[in-house]
Amino acid sequence: MQRQKYAAVILAAGQGTRMKSVVPKVLHEIAGRPLVAWPVEQARQLGCETISVVVGHGSDAVRDKLGADLQYPVQTEQLGTGHALLSAEASLAGFCGTVLLLCGDVPLLRQETLQRLLDLHHAEQAAVTVLTALVDDPFGYGRILRDGQLVQAIVEEKDATETQKKINEINTGIYAFEAPYVFEALRSVGRENAQGEYYLTDVVAAAFAAGRTVCALQADSVEEVHGINDRVQLSAAARAIRKRLNTEWMRQGVGMIDPETTYIDADVQIGSDTILYPNLSLRGTTVIGRDCIIEPGVVITDCEIGDRVHIKSGSVLAESKVGDDGAIGPMAHLRPGTILDGDNKIGNFVETKKAHLGVGSQASHLTYLGDAEIGRNVNFGCGTITCNYDGRDKYQTVVEDDVFVGSDTQFIAPVRIGRNSLIAAGSTITKDVPPDSLAIARSEQCNIEGWAKKKKKSKK
Ligand code: UD1
Ligand code: CA
Repeated sequence: MQRQKYAAVILAAGQGTRMKSVVPKVLHEIAGRPLVAWPVEQARQLGCETISVVVGHGSDAVRDKLGADLQYPVQTEQLGTGHALLSAEASLAGFCGTVLLLCGDVPLLRQETLQRLLDLHHAEQAAVTVLTALVDDPFGYGRILRDGQLVQAIVEEKDATETQKKINEINTGIYAFEAPYVFEALRSVGRENAQGEYYLTDVVAAAFAAGRTVCALQADSVEEVHGINDRVQLSAAARAIRKRLNTEWMRQGVGMIDPETTYIDADVQIGSDTILYPNLSLRGTTVIGRDCIIEPGVVITDCEIGDRVHIKSGSVLAESKVGDDGAIGPMAHLRPGTILDGDNKIGNFVETKKAHLGVGSQASHLTYLGDAEIGRNVNFGCGTITCNYDGRDKYQTVVEDDVFVGSDTQFIAPVRIGRNSLIAAGSTITKDVPPDSLAIARSEQCNIEGWAKKKKKSKK
């Protein structure tokens, strides 16, 4: 059998006024992905030849977010769903196969459901197959008018008779169409209806009248075909997706104390036997290794974390790499460009930025390491600061292997500390230190005996 050809058209031109937002509705995010990216991902997984996202409101923002490998037919005026699909005709010129029509605001639809829709469509050699659902309250939806197994028409709420309004099988707005036939049928569709719109749903009646096969597949759950119109629905959908993602991770061997409050973006990867505590966020393209422990309140964005890393409460990590066997936090801040080679300890109230630490190096307390190249087995005492910024430019601090930095040291960059040296506590280091040396840069202590006693007496 010849492989089926697929193209996807995703409707995303609407403004979404009920979001009460300057951001176009389809760019509001669930699990780190904009709403419209969910159907795009499904179309990709089905191997669609072309994916056309019909844009209107906020078209530039949608394009910027989704990237250049998709087509973006523009629907300047929102004249209805039929008009929206017609806007995509040029981007499908010459395409002969099945067009999958998806909605940019329906993120919960499952891949299995789509596959069943397509299987039925091809098995019945249908011209149109519509995904339907049985609902308790069909108000607002298009109703499915059937003739036995076949579908005769879809009638919109505003055009329905009282009897039709009682039908509780509704149109989800998701379809498989044969192209180029669907465009031919669309051209016969007018806008003489209660809303004065070009209804995509009228293609069903046109196909039926032309003696073509129109099928319907009922979705197993109504939940998966819900469209998002406001922020309440957005958060409910996010919760449903969170549950799906977290369940899948637990099945893959990731431990979760409380999956309800464990926030993992869709593109994150996690190794088995890693334990996630409540109230943490793993965002963006973060990759976590095996056997890690991630404690409450941790936020990790676009990071690569090795195996057996322990990240303690309240730590915030972004665009950083943490090698195997490290311990981070509590309350550490790894800013972009931090690279820890492995076996590193970054303790409480330590901030790093563009800092590379070799294997075994550590900064356990109250320290800032910025624009720093640090060798292996370097120990930073409490309160070390790389003074990397003079108000205009940034400068590097280089610390070679096996250096011991005493507490309360400032490195006035640019400066280089040779290997195996020791920096005395309380030093302000302004000059390079040769290897194997002791550097001490603080004023000598002088004790004035009896001074305090005298002072007390004179106060009396
Ligand atoms: C449509 C269906 C209805 C179905 C319902 C499911 C029609 C005529 N009706 O209702 O049978 O039960 O979906 O939710 O198709 N859009 C555009 N351009 C437009 C109009 C809409 O891109 O000109 C997009 C919207 O952004 C949205 C989708 O199409 O993503 C559906 O539009 P919406 O107005 O929500 O659906 P209805 O027309 O009310
Ligand atoms: Ca509408």
